[in-house]
Amino acid sequence: MPTDSPSAPAQPARVLSGIQPTGRFHWGNYFGAIRQYIELQAAGDAYYFIADLHALTTVREPDRLRSFVHDAAVDLLALGLDPARATLFVQSDVPEVTELTWLLMTVCPMGLLERCHAYKDKKTRGLPADAGLFAYPVLMSADILAYDATLVPVGEDQVQHIEVCRDLAGSFNHLYGDVFTLPAPRLVAGGGRVPGTDGQKMSKSYHNTIEVFEELPAQKKKIMRITTDSRPVEEPKDPDDDHLFALYSLMADEADVQRMAELYRRGGFGYGEVKKALVEAADAFFADARARRAELEADPERIAAVLTDGAARAREQAGRVLMRARQACGLTPAGRQS
Ligand code: TYM
Repeated sequence: MPTDSPSAPAQPARVLSGIQPTGRFHWGNYFGAIRQYIELQAAGDAYYFIADLHALTTVREPDRLRSFVHDAAVDLLALGLDPARATLFVQSDVPEVTELTWLLMTVCPMGLLERCHAYKDKKTRGLPADAGLFAYPVLMSADILAYDATLVPVGEDQVQHIEVCRDLAGSFNHLYGDVFTLPAPRLVAGGGRVPGTDGQKMSKSYHNTIEVFEELPAQKKKIMRITTDSRPVEEPKDPDDDHLFALYSLMADEADVQRMAELYRRGGFGYGEVKKALVEAADAFFADARARRAELEADPERIAAVLTDGAARAREQAGRVLMRARQACGLTPAGRQS
């Protein structure tokens, strides 16, 4: 039943999120989004997908795309996504979503998309943008609405797109009646913006990422190259104003984080020490996931089975919503079921 109040207590959350297979996942993906996926699957009504249609706007080599999709599934499972509790699937396996995208396109003002940051950034930098990138938030809206999602765990950079989704759902509902459920974003405490090695948002486009499953020597090298300021060692520093500390506090134990914060406030330490502590903390934090990843990697049939089963479950749900939308706008005679 569609609703405008996703947090109404009587209704359990339907969780949904997507992640692009454009390369290996980095710490921003994990601490901003994937960790929330794992936490939220406990309620048992969660849908997570690998957004290969979105990735087509940047990955142009078919073999690379296929292997990124496979890696994404392995990585998500290794990081704790449990197919018995959450539905994991590949976006393009649910064609209902692309049809829904068109229906939403017909109620979407151009101006709304012109303001969206992915397209705007490209335009500002003078780079050519294709219609896929321009319409990207409409596809993302269909992704969310197709599953009657109420809660969408994401990092801060996706909040604008969820607002677009709410706008489009609202316009469609206004025209055709209560068809879509309005979703709300869910961010990690503290805001959902993980910094990269240079202190800007961690992002592939800024070349400042550290990948979750990167080989340890390569990862160590990147950590040791994290930019820091040139204040003298003895000067006291504010831990809350330092991206190296922010990264450390994501994966070290609470007691170690407190000790490190004290060290910052006292002064008399070098950033090199913090980096070494971060290398160790990251190694320990992801050790179990690395081991699980090695097991999963050796079992490609299991990965394929999880995705096939996930696609069937996802299609069933998306099919129901699409039929509701088709009937509401006059594409299918009212009362027909398929
Ligand atoms: P994508 O693939 O760029 O990123 C996947 C998730 O990782 C989060 N993230 C971050 N969070 C915090 N700090 C960072 N530095 C950081 N970098 C990335 C993103 O916010 C995201 O949650 N458009 C989406 C994919 C998508 C989707 C959807 C998401 C397609 N359809 C429907 C939710 C619902 C994207 O490009 O995410």
